Amino acid sequence: MLDGRVAVVTGAARGIGQATAALLAEHGAKVVCADLDGDALKQTVELIGGNGVAVAADLTDPAAPGEVVGRAVAEYGQLDIVVNNAGYTWDGIFHKMSDEQLTAMLEIHLAVPFRLLRAAAPVLREAAKRDAAEGREVFRKVVNVTSIAGTMGNVGQANYSAAKAGLIGLTKTLAKEWGPLKINVNAVAFGFVETRLTAATADAGTFERGERSIQLGIPEQVRERAKAGIPLGRAATPAEAAGGIFLLCTPWSDFVHGQVLTVAGGQAEGMTS
Ligand SMILES: NC(=O)c1ccc[n+]([C@@H]2O[C@H](COP(=O)([O-])OP(=O)(O)OC[C@H]3O[C@@H](n4cnc5c(N)ncnc54)[C@H](O)[C@@H]3O)[C@@H](O)[C@H]2O)c1
Repeated sequence: MLDGRVAVVTGAARGIGQATAALLAEHGAKVVCADLDGDALKQTVELIGGNGVAVAADLTDPAAPGEVVGRAVAEYGQLDIVVNNAGYTWDGIFHKMSDEQLTAMLEIHLAVPFRLLRAAAPVLREAAKRDAAEGREVFRKVVNVTSIAGTMGNVGQANYSAAKAGLIGLTKTLAKEWGPLKINVNAVAFGFVETRLTAATADAGTFERGERSIQLGIPEQVRERAKAGIPLGRAATPAEAAGGIFLLCTPWSDFVHGQVLTVAGGQAEGMTS
């Protein structure tokens, strides 16, 4: 389905990003896998065989997005799909949340997708103009990974939900700007997906940010409560989550544009408008 397409997937070393890279590659795409964690990233590239390359970089470095796009062009000569997935959480109750917690989330969940898409813009736009000049209608794809925390709010995630909501604004604006170029821009809002971000606190490990070690995961009782609110009765696997992203990368979604696809097993608690 994706033969001849070239994708960038950020946060591809594990979890949803790894599953997405695997699914895109399984369906024919070449995948530039970007992540902070170079060692884990090697496993992803092994998993997808000869169908991808790794870029080990901290995407919050303002030079990194250009490096990732440059690698796609150098390796494969084109770029057709961008999946903005990299991220982590740094939870806390609002009245005790620091500026650092706020800016960290705005940076990884909003500024990084913004900069990556800006770096990709010349490549995507030039290709689109070439296709149009030659009378071809070719759809390219952007999928931004957001969260139901961004669409419905979530206790303890004021910073994260603000950033994920901002990403939806970026998605909708780019959909308007890039629609005429046949670049579909959509978002996927995940609910509860089993990854290290949502593992029980004792098992989740930490995210290393400079000198800081940020605890990942959520308390066991919150995990159980969250599952009880999901009509499908459990959290999604990373592969199921990747399925939502994949739909928006295929030709079957060419007329789905500027939308937020909720992939949450029917979980609907919260304020939706
Ligand atoms: N797991 C869930 O329930 C859930 C729900 C809603 C949204 N999400 C979103 O899905 C995305 C993927 O999360 P996941 O659950 O697979 O987590 P994960 O921790 O399994 O994977 C995230 C990856 O992003 C990478 N990353 C983080 N910061 C980076 C940086 N500065 N530069 C490069 N790479 C960086 C990490 O190294 C990691 O490999 C995130 O944007 C997350 O907010 C997850």
